Amino acid sequence: MTPIRSFLFIPGDSEKKLGKADGAGADALILDLEDSVSPDNKPVARELIPAFLRARPKAKRASQIWVRINPLDTDLALTDLVAVVAAAPDGLILPKANGPSDVLKLSHYLDALEAQTCLAAGSIKILPVATETAISPFRLGDYAGAGLTRLLGLTWGAEDLAAALGASTNRGADGRWALTYQMVRSLTLLAARAADVQPIDTLYVDFRDDDGLRASSRASRAEGFTGRLAIHPAQVAAINESYRPSAEEIAFAVRIIAAFDAAPGVGTVGLDGKMLDIPHLKQARAIVAQAAAYAS
Ligand code: COA
Ligand code: MG
Repeated sequence: MTPIRSFLFIPGDSEKKLGKADGAGADALILDLEDSVSPDNKPVARELIPAFLRARPKAKRASQIWVRINPLDTDLALTDLVAVVAAAPDGLILPKANGPSDVLKLSHYLDALEAQTCLAAGSIKILPVATETAISPFRLGDYAGAGLTRLLGLTWGAEDLAAALGASTNRGADGRWALTYQMVRSLTLLAARAADVQPIDTLYVDFRDDDGLRASSRASRAEGFTGRLAIHPAQVAAINESYRPSAEEIAFAVRIIAAFDAAPGVGTVGLDGKMLDIPHLKQARAIVAQAAAYAS
């Protein structure tokens, strides 16, 4: 299975936006019950979301359908779970996760609810937003080795973390992430790779800036992220294209493999005046394999 490139948020109380979901082309949808839905509208979202899921049985889904529940330390989370699990979402986004123990707790709730509703055990995956509380970055390394079989990936968020830190901005004067946010972003990437799950980059807030989104997403993929969150359907195409190998990358990877094939038994070769060794060959093979997977 190829990694999920685009996760598109849709406020779970908006019939109009839910109506645009199927045409968006996202690898996964996130039907939201948390902060894009006001407290007064949570009950209606808890009806619209299961209806949306039931109208799209798992075998026939063009996009995976995920649900963002409310944080586990609120009295909303269990009501969310009771409302949506029986309708068989592909996965749940857990916001404001404090660490792997929160994912384990959610996983235990799902063990019980899957059994009750006759869903296959372990079928619902979990993607925590793993940097939204002050303690959470200190626990990122603990996701590796925590035995969380439902864990699909790790993603990070800058807005709630800024609120948790009493910060007035999460940007530096140059418009880039301030140091704290750069740090947790890198740690999320490292933690996800250490745990052998998908590193999912955060959203690009300026949803009218297609060029900026493409440049940011290509850079993100080059660093190792496999996908990112989206907030507007217009962002999906740019994200899907950016998080798959480009034609130039594939062509270069094919040349690297050919250069090694032409020198059997050799650990290092020269190409275009640069030294290539085994890590380059491994990366080239991974790119060709990824390209084939996305093509099929
Ligand atoms: N999913 C589905 N449809 C969406 C959408 C989304 N995330 N965002 C916008 N649309 C629809 C709009 O309803 C609009 O439909 P229309 O043409 O029938 O009127 C169309 O796409 C164009 O929208 P646009 O006018 O460009 O944006 P907007 O001002 O209506 O909405 C946001 C802007 C940011 C409020 C909206 O994109 C949104 O709700 N995003 C998701 C927010 C969210 O879930 N956040 C939680 C994670 S941080
Ligand atoms: Mg948030």
